[in-house]
Amino acid sequence: MDASQKRSPTPLLGVLISGRGSNLKAIIDAIGDGRLDARIAVVISNRADAPGLEHARAAGIETLVISHRAHAAREDYDRALVAELQKRGVALVCLAGFMRVLSPAFVDAYPNRILNIHPSLLPKYPGLHPQQQALDDGATVSGATVHFVNKDLDAGPVVLQREVPVLPGDTADTLAARILQVEHTLYPEAIAAVINQG
Ligand code: GRF
Repeated sequence: MDASQKRSPTPLLGVLISGRGSNLKAIIDAIGDGRLDARIAVVISNRADAPGLEHARAAGIETLVISHRAHAAREDYDRALVAELQKRGVALVCLAGFMRVLSPAFVDAYPNRILNIHPSLLPKYPGLHPQQQALDDGATVSGATVHFVNKDLDAGPVVLQREVPVLPGDTADTLAARILQVEHTLYPEAIAAVINQG
């Protein structure tokens, strides 16, 4: 058997977004230049106007818009997402600025197979406005975290974290921009680590 026959099939990712999609673009670029051995099977947005959808379209990746407004119950919405992901054989789900809390209907369908990126050093500053939380706390260091998603918001096991300095005069926006640069290398690295762990 030669090396190509031994290699396991390329892992299929599903990326969920709600907005800008710069982390999605970073994942697309990492796959493109060989830092990440994976394929994005589908990008799903809950918002039709999410600018990040353009990154997927430009890369020839299938996109779906599934609006949460079309589903009365959170579980029904999550089941609809899971059905589309499973239909495409998605093995690892990457949340990239997806502004929806996942219910057990989703988390139980992909146990230890959902990742999220958050712009703080969790468990510090979970939830909304983590950069402002860091400034309000007088922190001199914040950062970014990629973690597994479980039923508790921003509290699943950490895969990778990286520190980012908080500088004098920072606003939430300047700190967010500095953290975002780090997110763009951290997320592909974390996805690769999870894939390599098997
Ligand atoms: C990032 O800061 C990410 O950490 C957080 O939401 C933001 C998404 O940005 N979860 P983008 O849509 O990937 O540009």
